[in-house]
Amino acid sequence: MHMLVLGIETSCDETAVALYDGEKGLVANRVFSQVELHRRHGGVVPELASREHIVRLLPMVEAALSEAGIEPQAIDGIAYTAGPGLIGALLVGASVARALGYAWDVPVIGVHHLEGHLLAPALEPGAPGFPFVALQVSGGHTLLVEVGGVGRYRILGETQDDAAGEAFDKTAKLLGLGYPGGPALAALAEHGRPGVFDFPRPMLDRPGLDFSFSGLKTAVVVAVRGRELDDVARADVARGFEEAIVDTLVTKSLRALKATGLDTLVVAGGVGANRRLREALTARLAAARARAFFPRPEFCTDNAAMIALAGHHRLAAGEREDLPVRAQARWSLDELRPPGSEGTRPF
Ligand code: KG4
Ligand code: ZN
Repeated sequence: MHMLVLGIETSCDETAVALYDGEKGLVANRVFSQVELHRRHGGVVPELASREHIVRLLPMVEAALSEAGIEPQAIDGIAYTAGPGLIGALLVGASVARALGYAWDVPVIGVHHLEGHLLAPALEPGAPGFPFVALQVSGGHTLLVEVGGVGRYRILGETQDDAAGEAFDKTAKLLGLGYPGGPALAALAEHGRPGVFDFPRPMLDRPGLDFSFSGLKTAVVVAVRGRELDDVARADVARGFEEAIVDTLVTKSLRALKATGLDTLVVAGGVGANRRLREALTARLAAARARAFFPRPEFCTDNAAMIALAGHHRLAAGEREDLPVRAQARWSLDELRPPGSEGTRPF
């Protein structure tokens, strides 16, 4: 059964809406980034994020409908991000989704944010089919997951502390770069010399697929402490940091492919935009007779298209929510089951 699903994403600092049609695919996709609002605070301020979602969300739904030339009566269901994320921000999306579902008399479903990311590659023509290994690297998450199908996820490894994007952002701050620091640090690293600062490759010496980036951050703190860094030295630090993090991500990804016997890696999340990571993954996976697939950046970073797509799978299988509004700040991916299975809703 195919449906026309409205997707809503408000888990962090992007307000996003999309319309996904089971037959035609994506027919509207809008993202409003709140980065300018949070920049002066040097990071996301949860309460400001919630308030901005309140102001932006409904006008964006209206704009998406008119862009696609769709009347609300044509909507068959609504999917919203129910977690994990900032609880106030999540509640804005949850409340609006439930209110619209009530007003339009259509079913509503809460979607796991990471399930959205894991299924997002399917929005691309030529996307690899299941099974594949996903490397999810963003500001909030760093994990390797074996994706066997919709709702069939096995976490292979996760960060024990900071996410990869968070490590980029914190190191950028240390070097006096603005927020968000990842792209600025990557740009600075372009001018740095490799090997001048040889930072540790976190947890590469140990078996297993978990990550830890706080030690790397500390190594950078120690290296720059008490020193007046000129521009050349700052670029060298940035380069050394980037080399260490990229080497770690690529090596663990290769290990994950080997452990699962799979040959396809799908990369998602903002850090997936990093040029050095993309080049290293492409080259080292090719050498291992595997391949890396990078969805276009707008499907890698937070968006509502992936939420609408994931929601479509579940709504079309007959999953429905009962009355309570769903939103939870913490939610393990391990609790998901394939669409339509018994006990599929963990709440
Ligand atoms: O997926 P995303 O847009 O948002 C969430 O975290 O949900 O990821 C943002 C993260 C930030 O930490 C940002 O610094 C990082 O991705 N990032 C990068 C690059 N572009 C974005 N990190 C390294 N190199 C980049 N080119
Ligand atoms: Zn995300």
